[in-house]
Parts: sequence; C-alpha cells; structure tokens
Amino acid sequence: MVLAGQRELRVEDRPADPVRPRVLDVRVAARPAHDGAEGEPARGQQLAEAQGCLQCHTTDGSLTATGPTWKGLAGSVRPLTDGSEVVADDTYLFNSIVDPRSQIVEGYEAVMPVFFADQLDEQQIDDLVEYIKSLAS
Ligand code: HEC
Repeated sequence: MVLAGQRELRVEDRPADPVRPRVLDVRVAARPAHDGAEGEPARGQQLAEAQGCLQCHTTDGSLTATGPTWKGLAGSVRPLTDGSEVVADDTYLFNSIVDPRSQIVEGYEAVMPVFFADQLDEQQIDDLVEYIKSLAS
C-alpha cells in the first residue's frame, strides 16, 4: 500500500533543482493530496499518442508491449519488484509518470523514460492520469 508521506520523503531525498523545480516538487508543495480532478481524458489520449507512451503501453489489455497495459490499471493492485503492492490510485499514476524509477512493476524492466517530469506540465500529467482512469474497466 502507499503510505502517507511516502512521496514527500522521496522528494526530500532528491537534491533540489535551484533553477527549475521538478513538476513533482511543485505538486507536493502545492497540493499533496492529488485527486486528478482537473484532468481531461481526451487531451490525455492525444498526449499519450504524441509523447510515444503508446509505443510501450497498450490500451486494450493486450500484453504484447514493453510496458503494462493501461486497460484496467487504475484502481487495481500493482505488485512491485521490491515485493510490496500498491493500489494504482491517482497519486501512484502521477508518480509513475513523473518518477518512473520510484516504483517498478513486477515482471517489467525499468526502461520507461525519466524525462516526462521535465517535458510535461502538471496539467498534461493530470490529463494523462485521467485518460488512464477512463480505461479502468
Ligand atoms: C520505452 C517504453 C515506455 C514509454 C515510452 C512509456 N512507458 Fe510507462 N512504463 C514502461 C514500463 C516498462 C513500465 C513498467 C516498469 C515500471 O514500473 O517502470 C511502465 C510503467 C508505467 C506506469 C505504471 C503501470 C503499472 O502497471 O502500474 C504508468 C502509469 C506509465 N508507465 C505511464 C506512462 C505514460 C503516461 C507514458 C508517456 C508519457 C509512458 N508511460 C511512456 C515503459 C514505457
């Protein structure tokens, strides 16, 4: 399970960027309890195509891709390589995009690019989270 305060701990561990705070740092400072409320699934779908997410993730449940399918992901229990399990809530999905190395899904390699935190703004990440949530069932 995701423990309260887990995300804050990780941010404290990372050296602060004096020039440009990372999206995750901004998010934690501004709104610790992420609810993804302002995301727009249709924009998220366009972003997923434009950013190349769909080269590694399927949206139809097929397991042929490099990364896990997004079909049924939101709200499910994810087994991680460290032996723990987390529920794929909004915070987990957000963190998986901006800080993919923080939690690696069991059975997958840590090959997801780490640059999305610098490449996308907070709104765009919310859009992607909402798109993934729209594929929950
Ligand atoms: C080069 C391939 C690749 C690309 C591109 C990629 N991912 Fe991933 N992604 C992965 C892999 C592999 C995993 C599983 C390992 C891990 O947890 O990092 C993953 C994990 C995830 C997870 C957690 C999935 C789960 O089952 O718990 C989410 C959410 C996610 N990616 C979203 C995205 C989004 C959004 C983008 C585009 C902005 C993206 N990914 C681009 C390969 C990729």
